[in-house]
Amino acid sequence: MKKICVVGTGYVGLVSGACLADFGNHVICADIDKDKIEKLKKGVIPIYEPGLKEVVDRNVEKKRLLFSNDVDAAIRDTEVVFIAVGTPPGEGGEADLRIVFSVTESIARNLNSYKVVVTKSTVPAGTGKKVYDILSKKTPKGSEFDVVSNPEFLREGSAVNDFLRPDRVVIGSNSERATEIMKQVYRALYINETPMVITNVETSETIKYASNAFLAVKISFINEIANICDQIGADVKVVAKAMGLDGRISPKFLHAGGGYGGSCFPKDTLALVKTADEVGVQNLVVNAAIKANDYQKHLMVEKIKKLVGDIKGKTIALLGLSFKPNTDDIRDATSLVIIEEILKAGGKIKAYDPVAQDIMQKAYPQVQYCKDAYDTAEGADCLVVVTEWNEFRELDLTLAKKKLKSPKVVDCRNVYDPNEMRELGFEYIGVGRGSY
Ligand SMILES: NC(=O)c1ccc[n+]([C@@H]2O[C@H](COP(=O)([O-])OP(=O)(O)OC[C@H]3O[C@@H](n4cnc5c(N)ncnc54)[C@H](O)[C@@H]3O)[C@@H](O)[C@H]2O)c1
Repeated sequence: MKKICVVGTGYVGLVSGACLADFGNHVICADIDKDKIEKLKKGVIPIYEPGLKEVVDRNVEKKRLLFSNDVDAAIRDTEVVFIAVGTPPGEGGEADLRIVFSVTESIARNLNSYKVVVTKSTVPAGTGKKVYDILSKKTPKGSEFDVVSNPEFLREGSAVNDFLRPDRVVIGSNSERATEIMKQVYRALYINETPMVITNVETSETIKYASNAFLAVKISFINEIANICDQIGADVKVVAKAMGLDGRISPKFLHAGGGYGGSCFPKDTLALVKTADEVGVQNLVVNAAIKANDYQKHLMVEKIKKLVGDIKGKTIALLGLSFKPNTDDIRDATSLVIIEEILKAGGKIKAYDPVAQDIMQKAYPQVQYCKDAYDTAEGADCLVVVTEWNEFRELDLTLAKKKLKSPKVVDCRNVYDPNEMRELGFEYIGVGRGSY
């Protein structure tokens, strides 16, 4: 079992650190955010992620998981250093790697013995080489280290399960010594026969972008089909179901809706386009998916206008704010576009989300946050399902209708049956359900 430091204790770093400890490794999760580390030391999980507290508590109790603000000491004390800090989009859409490189410099300063430096953050092809160059330049001659790429494929909302039971682990390494150490880090999965793709660093870095871009394209594709369905009276749910029965297509990521968001697809697609530009490769498909996704988010506002007419003075009730259910992450969420446009058009917003409204309140204090879905519907001109939290699927629609000023529903995630909604007396618009 290995001594590991995970630098960056966010959605990926905290889940990775806790789960690597669960595999039997000794892990220090290090972060410069004092407040976050204080909370973790007190047993408080700073993000909403189902099942994470149990894994953290279990491993803290077994003394395999520690939290620290002293990033330098954590690096010195361990053999494998995972970099799991943010790689947000820069001004031109490229991945901003400044934090990754600043952590690399910390590793260089604290390289007191052989270390495997692992990029867990999503970084473009060529970054591992740059990390290697920084370490070579900033450490004494003869210092021993290897750089490995180990991209993360977990999904927020099911991150713990995804990490503990992944479809595959990708290890990009140009060193046999480092590869062997990574196999020991993931020994629990290795003996479970989880597929391990062992390749070079550049290929590993590319796998992550190719995977996310493919899924983004798939979503944008079905959204476009949905928009056609709306115009011709077809039902995209049936179209997607029949498509998905074809083994070559698969039913996953074929749910039409109000566009993808989150901390990965939007920025990773932009970064891939940027990489293609830099190496002189025409990137038509992923570019189109990005544009289609932006369009899709704005289309949700058009659907609201279609039902309520002029937004000015109207109250719009939003159900769900996070970019998808089971997370409090609002980065690039469709709700942000809807809120922005409704407010700009002079409308009022009431909103409810089971976990994300405190975070949204900081960005949009002018929204009226409510205690539940019915409270949100009270007196509103239109109810909009933005995120498909399970509790919205199970809504008492008759009660919701009574609360609304007018019985209008825009269902950005197709959680309701259009016929049932019409029978209940709603004016209802979904995405690709045969009406605009
Ligand atoms: N969120 C996801 O679902 C997901 C999935 C796969 C891959 N990724 C990738 O993983 C990386 C991290 O994403 P995230 O969502 O966990 O980000 P995040 O913003 O939630 O977490 C980043 C953490 O790094 C810390 N940090 C910043 N500078 C630091 C420094 N110099 N030293 C130590 N800690 C520092 C921050 O305080 C924060 O806690 C990104 O590259 C992302 O693309 C994310």
